[in-house]
Amino acid sequence: MESTGKAQRIIIGSDHVGLPLKEAVVEDLRRRQVEVIDVGPYSGDQPVDYPDYAQLVAKKVLAGEGDSGILICGTGLGMSIAANKVPGIRAGLCHDTYTVHQTRAHNNANILCLGAWVVSPQRVSFLLDEWLATEYEGGRHQARLMKLERPAIDLGKNKSRSQFKLGVSLSPNPSIFGPLLFAGDLKQGMEKAAENGFDVVELSLRHPADLTIEALQALLNANKLGLSAIATGQSCLHDGMCLAAADQAGVQGAVERLGAHIELASHFGAAVIIGGIRGKFTGVESDRAHQRQRALEALRACAEKAVEWEVQLLIEPINRYETNFINTAEEAVRLTEEAGHPEIKLLLDTFHMNMEEADIPATLKRYADRIGYIHFADSNRYAPGLGHFPFDQVMATLLEIDYQGVITAEILPVPEDQSAMQQAGNFFKSLFSTDIQADEV
Ligand code: RB5
Repeated sequence: MESTGKAQRIIIGSDHVGLPLKEAVVEDLRRRQVEVIDVGPYSGDQPVDYPDYAQLVAKKVLAGEGDSGILICGTGLGMSIAANKVPGIRAGLCHDTYTVHQTRAHNNANILCLGAWVVSPQRVSFLLDEWLATEYEGGRHQARLMKLERPAIDLGKNKSRSQFKLGVSLSPNPSIFGPLLFAGDLKQGMEKAAENGFDVVELSLRHPADLTIEALQALLNANKLGLSAIATGQSCLHDGMCLAAADQAGVQGAVERLGAHIELASHFGAAVIIGGIRGKFTGVESDRAHQRQRALEALRACAEKAVEWEVQLLIEPINRYETNFINTAEEAVRLTEEAGHPEIKLLLDTFHMNMEEADIPATLKRYADRIGYIHFADSNRYAPGLGHFPFDQVMATLLEIDYQGVITAEILPVPEDQSAMQQAGNFFKSLFSTDIQADEV
């Protein structure tokens, strides 16, 4: 196979046995204009220990000092065992072009391990051709790679993947509300959601009349998806219709808009989210008390309508940088009780919890019977797995409290919609051990 010609930089190391083959590889790579960083050894006089060089190359690869690494010992075995102990390293031990191709294409190997007693300097050039030219295929392999870094959760007895409905947040229209995928192209969003293994979608809608029930149902059916919830914050963001608005018209608008969302949701067995639509307090202290009181009454009116239409209302705590009204689970629960509507459940979003809850597992346990819905977004609001939020811990707690319900990825389209959707889908797939699919290679 021809090399892609893309400039590459390779970190290489060996032990004393691998040294002659390393010299042949370095010469071959330099002939191809590949930049080589040779970490040694440079003479075979003294025996050296392969784990030392494996660690050196692995660290440099992880630090981004090279595009990939090559490690050579007598058999390649010691090097691959040592390199694969470094988290983030996927070292493939290869003796022929086929295994080189596969370890790049399927395992996204970042280090190639070779045995100087197995591969001759004459044959190594063909293996290097393949290493330099083969691209990672992604797709079905990605969830598997994630499991290498973070083992799938052991669901234990009496629990199964089907206790969760996994989803993603979309919108039929573009919005300045950022964490939505394929906003403005619902058809594509739904197709991609289905392709990436989601069970449900959540829709952020500005106005319920933006969609007909029939068109929405047809799209859901075509993609075998459920509608988990309608998110309503766009009304506040775009139209000034907020439960805590400073003007009565804004509050009334929010109640009417939420009422229309409730009617739409009732056709789909979906919930309605009170997130951004609660707005924020703007005036001086005395105005704020008034704003709060009016918001409480507005919430009560919405709750009554939701009870009448048998729709689950969800209230979502949002971080302090976006609103000064309901930042924590405790505040949300208190408000629902004050409204006299404790049947309104909590929507807990990991992105907001990460900033506002002192102890996330403790919050989940404390409000176990009040949680109605979960949003997953990483610490940076990117797809799960692209930041440093402790999802393992949260999943373990959700299983412990026997949470049964929806988890949707409400995430920014970073680096773009398609990759974010794939990352979220693969992350969800990687969470659970699955039965082996006979038709999947
Ligand atoms: C050295 O004797 C040999 O064990 C080493 O080069 C490598 O093959 C280890 O796996």
